[in-house]
Amino acid sequence: MTLLNAAEQAGLEGMLMDSSCRNGTCRTCISKLTRGQVHYRIEWPGLSLDEKREGYILPCVAYPQSDVTIELPV
Ligand code: FES
Repeated sequence: MTLLNAAEQAGLEGMLMDSSCRNGTCRTCISKLTRGQVHYRIEWPGLSLDEKREGYILPCVAYPQSDVTIELPV
């Protein structure tokens, strides 16, 4: 499941993680991955190459490949 779905199941969505489109285009859910790895099933989520290199992810379309720690926008 996606990180956003996992957050919802844990009861965190809405309290900590905002979302809108849920398909990787609006960037509402943008967060920074500080530990672990994710992968995407869509060709190119709405992130620039520089953002991806800096660790930004879109949890609505990001699938964890390990335990992860993410930093949410304030
Ligand atoms: S909710 Fe729109 S990009 Fe994640």
